[in-house]
Amino acid sequence: MPASAARPRPGPGQPTASPFPLLLLAVLSGPVSGRVPRSVPRTSLPISEADSCLTRFAVPHTYNYSVLLVDPASHTLYVGARDTIFALSLPFSGERPRRIDWMVPEAHRQNCRKKGKKEDECHNFVQILAIANASHLLTCGTFAFDPKCGVIDVSRFQQVERLESGRGKCPFEPAQRSAAVMAGGVLYAATVKNYLGTEPIITRAVGRAEDWIRTDTLPSWLNAPAFVAAVALSPAEWGDEDGDDEIYFFFTETSRAFDSYERIKVPRVARVCAGDLGGRKTLQQRWTTFLKADLLCPGPEHGRASSVLQDVAVLRPELGAGTPIFYGIFSSQCSNL
Ligand SMILES: *[C@@H]1O[C@H](CO)[C@@H](O)[C@H](O)[C@H]1NC(C)=O
Ligand SMILES: *[C@@H]1O[C@H](CO)[C@@H](O)[C@H](O)[C@H]1NC(C)=O
Repeated sequence: MPASAARPRPGPGQPTASPFPLLLLAVLSGPVSGRVPRSVPRTSLPISEADSCLTRFAVPHTYNYSVLLVDPASHTLYVGARDTIFALSLPFSGERPRRIDWMVPEAHRQNCRKKGKKEDECHNFVQILAIANASHLLTCGTFAFDPKCGVIDVSRFQQVERLESGRGKCPFEPAQRSAAVMAGGVLYAATVKNYLGTEPIITRAVGRAEDWIRTDTLPSWLNAPAFVAAVALSPAEWGDEDGDDEIYFFFTETSRAFDSYERIKVPRVARVCAGDLGGRKTLQQRWTTFLKADLLCPGPEHGRASSVLQDVAVLRPELGAGTPIFYGIFSSQCSNL
């Protein structure tokens, strides 16, 4: 694998006062493609200018738009929100989107409230949308603190079918940040696996849960991470036909390096290989290809690094020409910067 592919180059991020509304990014006009060959992303954009080149999408009484997925093959943008999944045709021209209501049954919601959770949180916050194959999407939601996954037949787009447990794939709590990507028909997920949200995990979720390859619950692997993105890369994309597919996970975690009063946040990238079968004697069912590296985004102000990763996007090369480039949006740990 070319060395540069392993070295994400985050763009100089603008400290963002609040996470940039996801939907602003969603509906760029023009051809939809994961490959943008020669354009160079801008690193800053006055909000006034942004307004003129972006289309907004929101549906009354639908909240918590949390996950976006573009299917370049069908020119469709899927949007996951609270109790709802939308399908928008691209370029988006304002027509009524197709929608699926994926609600939590009332008895289940009552249960959730009995456990002392707020009414507002006892909903199904859609957290994962992924292309399973040409005919189906995979989706997962928090389902009132009892995460569930299911599949959607995209040609009908009417319901989420074949519900199963989403534990280890999707968080219980809507505020918990997670990331997932499908590669080779398999889901790779970065989330928390327990109700309390204290056990982070990066897993290849295929087959029985006991057989999943995953990270250990140790701070040296992951220390209170807030995941923002998962990206699958195939070395064939840059002309290396023999390389194994790689999955990258981007997150901010708490540093263990400083024995200080203050909890220092560090932006990180972790990588695993798709062909990893786990160890034989040690590291059974654990990643043997797990590598973790710091991301560095030096801030323009006071020489202070922006340490909280908000989002990451990948620009893929045209076939065989160049290597993928990752762009990150960072903000400062100090909320007043
Ligand atoms: C969902 O949206 C509502 C209304 O905007 C907001 O009050 C609430 O905090 C959101 N919940 C989450 C988990 O983001
Ligand atoms: C696509 O995925 C769905 C859901 O997992 C499965 O039922 C279906 O058989 C798959 N179709 C093909 C052609 O693999």
